[in-house]
Amino acid sequence: MSVITLSLQHTLTPWHQAGMQVLAILARKGGVGKSLLARALAVQALTQGKRAAILDADPQGTVLAWRARRPHPAPHVVGLGNRAMADVLREIESGGGDIALIDTPPHAQPIISKAAELADAAIIVTGTGPEDIEQIRAVYDIVSNLRKPAGIVINKAKPNTAALKAARGGVLAFSMPVCPTDITDRVVHPYASANGLSVQETDPEGRAAIEIGEVWEWLVTRVLSFESATTPGHDNTRTRPRRTRIPA
Ligand SMILES: Nc1ncnc2c1ncn2[C@@H]1O[C@H](COP(=O)(O)OP(=O)(O)OP(=O)(O)O)[C@@H](O)[C@H]1O
Ligand SMILES: [Mg+2]
Repeated sequence: MSVITLSLQHTLTPWHQAGMQVLAILARKGGVGKSLLARALAVQALTQGKRAAILDADPQGTVLAWRARRPHPAPHVVGLGNRAMADVLREIESGGGDIALIDTPPHAQPIISKAAELADAAIIVTGTGPEDIEQIRAVYDIVSNLRKPAGIVINKAKPNTAALKAARGGVLAFSMPVCPTDITDRVVHPYASANGLSVQETDPEGRAAIEIGEVWEWLVTRVLSFESATTPGHDNTRTRPRRTRIPA
């Protein structure tokens, strides 16, 4: 908890660091945990000393509502409203953000495509049901066509079930890294959200928080890069994204 408190204090000083990673959280399927993951990863980024922001690009405003319940000033959360996504990202970047996570709506193909286009990297979130897995393809095609670094995270996993085993088999159909840690279905997630928190804050030693930490580690080692990027071009199976160049 003290680590989080310390990181949150960074927000009291102006953001200053140039160069920001933009991560799009995507899924065509509704309710698979995009918003939960955006919040949890943003909080995890704070614990790692990163200045994190969430762009809530979903008209449902799930993350904005969480932000309104939240007792802490960080992460910075901004809605898209009627603005261009690039403008909002540029604003976050000029404010000194280290990482901006874009929470996207389900179904809405133009917003998903725009987020994927502007992001340095993307995460595709899926549940374990066959209906969840078969919806991966649409978003997979978008990020693959853009040659974006990307990976798949399985959420709402029920350990040691046939459903999880089938889902693990199903995601192998995509040539994309799959996070080795599944996020287990646990009531601590919605409980934390009800208070505007994430599980790392309500139960930092708990298994749910450990899983989020492991997803973050996978993300920074396999999908994102906080080093100055030098590698031109992308390979979506192993990746080092270029710095965001947000078009004017
Ligand atoms: N691992 C989990 N364990 C328990 N509950 C979860 C988990 N992940 C998500 N949930 C719950 O499932 C519901 C949907 O999650 P969330 O809002 O993050 O999904 P979403 O993909 O953003 O949905 P939408 O497509 O509507 O934007 C929420 O009530 C959330 O608390
Ligand atoms: Mg959502």
